Amino acid sequence: MSSCLDTCQDSDKSRIRWYLYINAPPGGRARGVVHRLVCSVQSKSFTYLSISTTVHVVVGITGASGLRYGVRLLECLRCERTVIMSADAARLVVGETGLSKEDIESKATSRLDNDDMRAPLASGSAAFDAMVVVPCSMSTLSKVACGIGDNLITRAASVALKERRRLVLVPRETPLSAIHLENMWRLSSAGAVVMPACPAFYPSPESVDDMVDFVVGRVLDQLGLEHSLYRRWSGDYPTRSQV
Ligand SMILES: Cc1cc2nc3c(=O)[nH]c(=O)nc-3n(C[C@H](O)[C@H](O)[C@H](O)COP(=O)(O)O)c2cc1C
Repeated sequence: MSSCLDTCQDSDKSRIRWYLYINAPPGGRARGVVHRLVCSVQSKSFTYLSISTTVHVVVGITGASGLRYGVRLLECLRCERTVIMSADAARLVVGETGLSKEDIESKATSRLDNDDMRAPLASGSAAFDAMVVVPCSMSTLSKVACGIGDNLITRAASVALKERRRLVLVPRETPLSAIHLENMWRLSSAGAVVMPACPAFYPSPESVDDMVDFVVGRVLDQLGLEHSLYRRWSGDYPTRSQV
């Protein structure tokens, strides 16, 4: 097994990242983003403190309430991120966030139309690492649970499932019918992570932003990406001064 470091510029050309490439015979090749690279010019050696193998995340945003979660996820992802918004998400987004569809799409490194079924993401050959649908409407969740791929979000989610890639669905609906619960069970059984947008109160949130950050932080946890969006439980509730 051999490894090498290489650089790559983000598609928006905003920054250069270090990647670690690991060649594992026969023919296997893994790529990870290197965090906190420490180089010694003198000994010509390097150490890295952690790597993450999630380098390209597809973010689907659908027409459920909670569009702020999707917006915040795009802001917090530091890797390549492609956004796809459904028509209903585009209709609801101004009312919920004050932002336009274009404002939100500009937070991603690339965007795709939900009706563009010829996009690379519609194929199992597409090289993305993970997909998050946030917020995920019950309509989209139900379609994915039944294997329906009638738009790019549902098709890419089906691709993620069949290719055994990370698929995280963040539904927002209450109460839940037996049909909703059964569909969630089907998805979880098939390997998806179903994590309803449920902010916790143990980190003592002081604002809606704190609650949004908790949910988004838990999504990043599922992707194995580092963050400091919420205070992890450490055995006791934080005092006011720690919050
Ligand atoms: C104001 C408003 C809020 C909605 N909130 C939710 C919601 O929280 N959860 C949900 O599953 N559907 C919600 N819906 C319904 C979806 O928008 C609707 O089922 C839509 O067809 C979803 O399509 P999409 O998954 O392609 O975005 C809401 C609709 C409106 C008009």
